[in-house]
Parts: sequence; C-alpha cells; structure tokens
Amino acid sequence: MDLQILPVTAPKTPIKDENELAFGKHFSDRMLVMEYDSGKGWHSARIQPYGPLTLDPAAMVLHYSQEIFEGLKVFRRPDGKLAMFRPADNVTRFNRSAERMCMPEVDEKFFLDAMIELIKLEADWVPHSEGTSLYVRPTMIATEPMLGVRPADQYLCYVILSPVGAYYKGGIAPVKIWISDFYVRATEGGTGEAKTGGNYAASLFAAQEAAENGYDQVLWLDAKEKRFVEEVGSMNMLFLYDGKIVTSPLKGTVLDGITRRSVLTLVKEMGYEIEERALSVDEIMAGTSNGRLQEAFGTGTAVVISPVGSFCYKDECVQLGDGQPGELTMKLYNKLTAIQYGRETDNHNWVTLL
Ligand code: COI
Repeated sequence: MDLQILPVTAPKTPIKDENELAFGKHFSDRMLVMEYDSGKGWHSARIQPYGPLTLDPAAMVLHYSQEIFEGLKVFRRPDGKLAMFRPADNVTRFNRSAERMCMPEVDEKFFLDAMIELIKLEADWVPHSEGTSLYVRPTMIATEPMLGVRPADQYLCYVILSPVGAYYKGGIAPVKIWISDFYVRATEGGTGEAKTGGNYAASLFAAQEAAENGYDQVLWLDAKEKRFVEEVGSMNMLFLYDGKIVTSPLKGTVLDGITRRSVLTLVKEMGYEIEERALSVDEIMAGTSNGRLQEAFGTGTAVVISPVGSFCYKDECVQLGDGQPGELTMKLYNKLTAIQYGRETDNHNWVTLL
C-alpha cells in the first residue's frame, strides 16, 4: 500500500508556553488515516490535515463501541533528536486488541513506518521541556453503517498527535487512591486486557464518585471476590511489599502495560525479586501500618510512574510512609525518563531514534 501525503494549507503554531500543555488538549496539524473494507483490506493510507471525521450516524462504533486505541510517546532529547519509546510493542498490542474486538489487524511494519513518517512531518510539535513529550494516539473504529450486532465490514484507522505535559495536575506528586469495594472494571473472560474505549467508559461512574470525594483515581479489585488488586484504569499498579516487587498477574483482566514491562525489567536488573501475584486489599491496608508495604506506584505511558500517597477503602484511609514519593519509585522514574530523554544509554533497545 502506498502512503499519500496531502498538503496542510493552514498550519497552526505549536503552543509556546509548555507549562500549559497538560494532557491531550492540543493536537498537531496532520493525522495518518487508512480505511478498511472486507474483501479489499486496508487501503487509501494518507497523511492529511488534522480535522473532524465524517461518520454515518449508524456507524457501528457509535452504537456498539467496536473501537481500540493505543498510546505511545516521542521525546525530544537535549541534542534535538527525537526518540520513540518501544513503538513496535504498541503496534503489536494494537493488533492484539484488534483480534479481541473482531477488528482487522494492521500490517505492523507499514503502520509503524507510516506513523514515523507522520511524526517526522510534525517534528515541530514535539515539545522541548523536561517532562513533556508528543503523545501518539493510534485509533481504530468500526465505520460501517449497520444496526445489527456483528463485527463491522468497514473500519477507519487513524493516528493523531498531541503535545503533552504531566498527566496528573500535580505532576509527580503522590496520588490519593480510592479502592472500590463495589464497582468493577473487568472480569475474567471479558475485555479488560484489550485497549478498547468501553473499558474506560465503564470506569467513569466510579471515577466520578471518587473525584467528588477528593480522590485522584480508582483502584479496581477483582470482580469475583472483590479482594485482590487489579489496576487503576490509566495505569498498572506495582507494590514494594516485603522488599519484593508485587504486581497483578496478566490473566486477561489487566492491561499488559509497556511501562509495566519496562519497569519489571529495570527492577529485576536492580536485584529485586518479582512476584506476579494477587495482592489483597487487606495486605495493602494492614501493610501500611505494619511496614510490610513500603511503596506503591502506578505505571503507564501517559503517567510514566506515579507514586501513591494514600489508599482509602470503605471507611478507612491510610497513608503510605510519610506520604511522599518512595525512594525506589523515584529511582525508577529517574531511570526510565533518563533512558527516554537520552541521558542514559538504552541497553534494552527500547528506543527508536527518528
Ligand atoms: C496511556 O497511558 O497511554 C493510556 O492509554 C492511558 C490513557 C487512558 C490516558
């Protein structure tokens, strides 16, 4: 398939004050688009001006949420070079989500090359300050106009680019986590592992309730027993418990996070033992007072690494340590961002330089 490049007639100016970036509010001038028809496959790949999509009101995504997405980042290094972090892993995961949602897979090489072409054209949109990056959002939606419930025959795949700052307003400040004892995010056999919009829509009601009560995020427990930690909707959770790194196993209900994978590699190299096991809410609540739970943090492309300052469950709220980011948490944040921004050698082949 050829990639057509269409001109941009009215380019915008990238935002000057990078303190104002926040997360996902600004978008660059161009987007990558390709279309799919069953019987024909993917076609009409093009980089075109960023702008609204034309969709039939009966487009299946609007009714039955057949949709997937990804999130990856491009960093501007002090020498001006642009670095993408583990992009091939995101494209592979995009295809895994596509399979789960009965959507057509993309040609991984073509898609990644086209994405790189888009980023090169939009290089001016990669912000300069430490802590900022260009967030890349590949998306696929079912466009066939049809009200029967079945996989669609037509799809649109597109990639948009957003210069971003910190995901949370407080940056690396510890977050206050509410552990839900009622709402659940995913069940075994469900779509929890897929990066599909419905998982996020289903999390909003609890997140809203948490926000009304002053919490930053909801920590989901397993749907069967409501006892074991799964994830926070926008990040995987890792705990320093009894001196070991504990995190939920990947059994279909949590996202196979790429930052999670990277952090597990780094802690292993630092000599920590890793336990991928179900940590119970009781272990968390008791662990903060008996000292067994030393640190807790979330990982994700958008958040990078986010320290947890306190947990609230039912009527009890507990502070973790002195409520400040833990030593290991900060060490990992510094190490990962040093690799991303090029201050440290990338020994793992995680970085693609553009
Ligand atoms: C990411 O970390 O890239 C995500 O996709 C989380 C998102 C829902 C903000």
